[in-house]
Amino acid sequence: MSPQISRLALTLSCAIVFLAALSAQQTPPEPKTTPPSYAAIPVEAARQPNPVKSSPESLARAKKWWTLDCAMCHGASGNGKGSLAADMKLKIADFTDPNTLKDRSDGEIFYIIKNGHQDMPPEGDRIKPEENWDLVNYVRSLAKPK
Ligand code: HEC
Repeated sequence: MSPQISRLALTLSCAIVFLAALSAQQTPPEPKTTPPSYAAIPVEAARQPNPVKSSPESLARAKKWWTLDCAMCHGASGNGKGSLAADMKLKIADFTDPNTLKDRSDGEIFYIIKNGHQDMPPEGDRIKPEENWDLVNYVRSLAKPK
């Protein structure tokens, strides 16, 4: 074999070994019965910057979804006292308190809305990613200065 060809062969076999290792590494899907815990938010998701600026337009778009999908648990004002939350005896954090979400990144809030948490159902693909970011902005806007 010429030196070029054997180098090519070496590169190719390396690539094959690498790809095989990659596919073997795939993590099994999480069992459906355990709800995702906050600790499971992937770092990549948590670091994701919010591409949607918080504007009156963004908040207005989010309000529709908040009223439809969130207020029954989190309360219209975000105080955590929605009627469904009371029926289900859920203890929900008060988003009107600026301390509640101060340590959360926008990416984490996005992830929680998309994937749900404990008794909170996931929005999943029901809303577009931009609408999910609108909701992140909306949730943040509920904090009232003390
Ligand atoms: C069935 C009731 C329910 C519905 C509907 C619901 N949530 Fe939740 N949500 C919860 C519960 C329970 C938690 C976990 C307890 C907590 O953190 O307050 C939670 C947690 C959260 C958190 C994380 C709070 C934290 O402490 O970091 C955010 C953000 C959130 N919800 C936003 C939303 C948004 C936005 C919607 C609508 C798209 C929504 N939720 C719909 C029940 C609900």
